[in-house]
Amino acid sequence: MEVIILKDADEVAEGGARRVCALIRQNRNAVLGLATGTTPVAMYGKLISACRIGEISFSEVTTFNLDEYLGLAPDHPQSYRSFMQRQLFEHIDIDTDNTYLPTCRAGTDPETVCRLYEEQIKSVGGIDMQILGIGSNGHIGFNEPMSSLASRTRVKTLSEHTVADNSRLFEPNEYQPSLAITMGVATIMEARRILLLATGPHKARAVREMIEGSVTSRCPASALQLHQRVTVLLDEAAGSELESQGYYKRAHEQNTELLGASNF
Ligand code: PGA
Repeated sequence: MEVIILKDADEVAEGGARRVCALIRQNRNAVLGLATGTTPVAMYGKLISACRIGEISFSEVTTFNLDEYLGLAPDHPQSYRSFMQRQLFEHIDIDTDNTYLPTCRAGTDPETVCRLYEEQIKSVGGIDMQILGIGSNGHIGFNEPMSSLASRTRVKTLSEHTVADNSRLFEPNEYQPSLAITMGVATIMEARRILLLATGPHKARAVREMIEGSVTSRCPASALQLHQRVTVLLDEAAGSELESQGYYKRAHEQNTELLGASNF
């Protein structure tokens, strides 16, 4: 795992956007795995700017989101489809037909949606780079603690912890779903590279368990220790509980010296 501790959330967004831009410049047909949540929003803002000034184009890019609530229509303002439209897709030159979420429309069998999602990812040759956040309970996607590390795309019940964490995004009397379809841990692990962003002190413990703890379904993000190409971008607060902070900083300085800007 490459662990990079940056000054603040803006540097994390900048570092994330730089890596995504480098991938798209290298491969205009790139397949990106996307995440919702608060963390990637600033990075999406920077990608929108890069697209507006013509630095990158998403016209040939395909995207797969990690997850979607079950029981919300795609045009519901709280659906992750709506979130992605607002935060990214409406502002870039992507073909919406090439943007996928595991959406289960009314009357459709969720298991069929899950199976098809896996097939759709395979049919485009897999995901080149998966963007991830991390839940304060160590989840990735909606793979809650005790999710099988061999799991594939499926329906998951959200933990009380996650429902409480996300309640800030819902009005007091608004319906908040507690079921979702999420890529599994094993689905995520098949991405050729992984870019995980975490900011804020409330992520510090989960970040420590992910990087320095044992590989365990108690912290699904810890499975990433078994992936060959993971970059973790942290702000100081999210990295504050790591034991080996000094080592990560030194390694990053040396890697930057050795590999320079080509190291995305
Ligand atoms: P957040 O969510 O970015 O809103 O903190 C991250 C996650 O739950 O994966």
